[in-house]
Amino acid sequence: MTKTNISMNNQTILITGCAGFIGANLATYLLDKCQNSTIIGVDNLNNYYDKELKEYRLELIKNKERVSLSKYLFIKLDISDKEGIQNLFEEYHPSIIINLAAQAGVRYSIKNPDAYISSNILGFYNILECCRHSYDGGQPGVKHLVYASSSSVYGGNTKVPFSEDDLVDHPVSLYAATKKSNELLAHSYSKLYNIPCTGLRFFTVYGPAGRPDMAYFSFTEKLRTCQKINIFNNGNCKRDFTYINDIVEGVMRVVQGAPNRFTGSDNLPVPPYAIYNIGNSNPENLMDFVHILSEELKKTKILPDKFNIEDYIELVPMQPGDVPVTYADTSNLEHDYGFKPTTDLRTGLREFAEWYKKYYNI
Ligand SMILES: NC(=O)c1ccc[n+]([C@@H]2O[C@H](COP(=O)([O-])OP(=O)(O)OC[C@H]3O[C@@H](n4cnc5c(N)ncnc54)[C@H](O)[C@@H]3O)[C@@H](O)[C@H]2O)c1
Repeated sequence: MTKTNISMNNQTILITGCAGFIGANLATYLLDKCQNSTIIGVDNLNNYYDKELKEYRLELIKNKERVSLSKYLFIKLDISDKEGIQNLFEEYHPSIIINLAAQAGVRYSIKNPDAYISSNILGFYNILECCRHSYDGGQPGVKHLVYASSSSVYGGNTKVPFSEDDLVDHPVSLYAATKKSNELLAHSYSKLYNIPCTGLRFFTVYGPAGRPDMAYFSFTEKLRTCQKINIFNNGNCKRDFTYINDIVEGVMRVVQGAPNRFTGSDNLPVPPYAIYNIGNSNPENLMDFVHILSEELKKTKILPDKFNIEDYIELVPMQPGDVPVTYADTSNLEHDYGFKPTTDLRTGLREFAEWYKKYYNI
């Protein structure tokens, strides 16, 4: 697919979910790389997990701004607040939108569906509406909307690796259904209003200052306090773990190449729309993952040398909403953007363990 190059300099870039794991890393990276740009970070700072971690990430962004050639502005706002989002667009006219704000987590969606409808459906719809109206009165408007989808849209697909061309009509959690809905909504807005849109299906992102609800983080907390960890599907699960720096690099590459606008034979826009997987393309068995994690936790002295991981493993059946395998085919990303994640799991988990030790002062 042909792309329009977008410079990251002299732009107003909106990142939603900027206090989140991926958003904060992206904001920091942008402040490092962009010149004369304004990065607007939006987050509602909800308490799905430890808010202090979100505040800590916001602090890291502020520190980076001090040495940046770009400006940074944080606005506490919920993307489901239509008027608030409209006011933001009217005041700042962002040219690049990176929508990462969402209620994440598969298991949480089983007991807390409202949060997913509010943030992932209503919130995303508000972003699309603002993108649509950004062209009102002949304004240049939004050059590229990039939004987070998820590997969970592949549901229980058994054909691996997962390709963007595979059928993804059978989500097994509400979370996955909202992410698939985002892709559909984006397609219709892209077609109707000629908005260049790219959806990114992230695969199990991990790293320093990551999400405490994810296995590598919650296992670390449990093992440290000598609690057992549950390994689902009796250990027969594989995950395509993708290191945060690879995700950030991938997002940056994608943002800079927006799908081209074309007119079709019906004289209407051919939707400038694309979807990419961003994953490591190297799924790891959960049992291997747990062993590597415990080895790295021992190396950093978070766990004592004599710690025997086997004593702490509890094999349990599959949970509703979970899938046995995730595995990204990244050939489209490689072809169109010349990029493929490369960080191996041990290296990434070492970085996490070192950060964890410092952050919790162990
Ligand atoms: N981390 C992963 O493994 C992974 C995998 C696939 C997809 N994703 C998607 O990537 C995006 C970022 O994920 P993350 O891991 O950084 O999650 P995160 O929970 O750390 O970050 C999301 C941020 O969005 C904020 N937020 C939530 N609802 C909001 C709302 N209505 N208005 C404003 N802010 C809101 C939260 O406070 C949080 O800071 C999400 O859309 C997530 O679904 C993540």
